Amino acid sequence: MSTTSKQSGTNVHEIADGIYRINTPVRFEGAGGFTFNQYLVADDEPLLFHTGPRKMFPLVHEAVARVLPVKNLHYIAFSHVEADECGSLNEWLAAAPQAMPLCGAVAAMVSINDMADRAPRALADGELISLGTHHLRWLYMPHLPHGWDCGFLVEEHTATLLCGDLFTQGGDDLPVITEGDILGPSEAFRHRMDYFSHTKNAGVLLERLAATGPTTLACMHGSAWRGDGAQLLRELAAALAA
Ligand SMILES: [Fe+2]
Ligand SMILES: [Fe+2]
Repeated sequence: MSTTSKQSGTNVHEIADGIYRINTPVRFEGAGGFTFNQYLVADDEPLLFHTGPRKMFPLVHEAVARVLPVKNLHYIAFSHVEADECGSLNEWLAAAPQAMPLCGAVAAMVSINDMADRAPRALADGELISLGTHHLRWLYMPHLPHGWDCGFLVEEHTATLLCGDLFTQGGDDLPVITEGDILGPSEAFRHRMDYFSHTKNAGVLLERLAATGPTTLACMHGSAWRGDGAQLLRELAAALAA
């Protein structure tokens, strides 16, 4: 499985058992290349983590359809409310009549109860949901890297952390998944465009993520990563504290 749109370069690859990375490269005038990734967890109750920006909906739809029938989607999940995280939420709810938005309690209360065409399932911190083989735990991570409503999902069957905007790497020609350095490139990106809130709780929150022992980091922007995720998260905490 690879390219699903020759025109945009959108591509899909399985990066862990039953977890597919959908990637679309873009170029911003004067700012260089960037990528938007969504992750599809194929299971009895399939889940899409992040929708992509609203204008990218046809591309992401085409890529999901390459893996499973779009109408089978059960959850449209996201880390926090921004266009690339959930801009096409209502388009997905229309395309998948049984699907519901899945987000943290704060996102539901502040935005999604109003913005979404169907009511969300709102997750409490630490809550576990089962899709069949895959089990995802919601960890509420306020302001890490940004957004009062922010949180992440840890998939326990594959030890995959759906880490959203953490470890954002610039560029549009990165490998699907790497065991190489992503902290250096993501720190370089952060120093050019600082998208972190710099909450004083970052160290405690990152330690909570590290304690889950992830071996795959499903980054939203840039390559996915494989290795000792706990160590890398602690290195990020040290870089933020420096
Ligand atoms: Fe974001
Ligand atoms: Fe993002």
